[in-house]
Amino acid sequence: MQLIITDDAQSMSKKAAEFVADEVRKNPEALLALSTGSTPIGCYKELVRMYNEGAVDFSRARSLNMDEYIRLDKEHPQGYYYFMKHHLYEHVNIDMNRTFGPDVMKENLDETAKEFDQRIEEEGGIDLILLGIGRDGHIAFNMPENELTFATHIQELSEATIQDNARFFDSIDEVPTKAMTIGIENIFKSKKVLLLANGEAKSDIMNAFLNSETLSTHIPATLLKLHPDLTVIMDQAAAQKCVK
Ligand code: GLP
Repeated sequence: MQLIITDDAQSMSKKAAEFVADEVRKNPEALLALSTGSTPIGCYKELVRMYNEGAVDFSRARSLNMDEYIRLDKEHPQGYYYFMKHHLYEHVNIDMNRTFGPDVMKENLDETAKEFDQRIEEEGGIDLILLGIGRDGHIAFNMPENELTFATHIQELSEATIQDNARFFDSIDEVPTKAMTIGIENIFKSKKVLLLANGEAKSDIMNAFLNSETLSTHIPATLLKLHPDLTVIMDQAAAQKCVK
């Protein structure tokens, strides 16, 4: 694992954007799996800035959304497809036909999950997955549980996650309680994993992630430590409890 600790969230975002841009420069057709949440927003802003300066070209790149709330349509402002469009896609030259996510409006959601995994396979697999981390250690929407699922699946969201996500909705009752998410195998088959964390609210979970001597499905992120190409970039605020 490569661990980078930056002074603040802004430098975390810059380093993360450099990492993503490097991947696209080396592999212009890279399939990027991109995360939502507040953590990567600065990274996407930085990528837009780099694109405007001619430092990165997304014209041949491909991208997927790794999760989506069940039954929020593509244009819902709190939906993840809309999020990616709003924060990245519509500001760079990515071809929208090369972006995709699970179709959560489809009647048969088991079919949706299978089709999504099939599409990832057909595209040749994920080259770089950019992940955030929930305060409870979840990655994408793989929640702390006794068992984790290999493939794309429907996930009941934990109470903590529903509460964390309530800030994006008018009231907690509007927060969807289920999502479709890529599974642990999808994450593991990605050639590179980039995990980002910033802010004090992530300091306990980053301490648990980095210093835990065991793997636990109750902290799904701990499994990432087995990935052969994992880079973690976090700021000082998230790292403050990690130094032993
Ligand atoms: C949601 C997303 C995750 C994200 C997490 C953390 O649960 N599905 O992909 O990593 O939120 O969000 P934030 O970056 O806002 O802390």
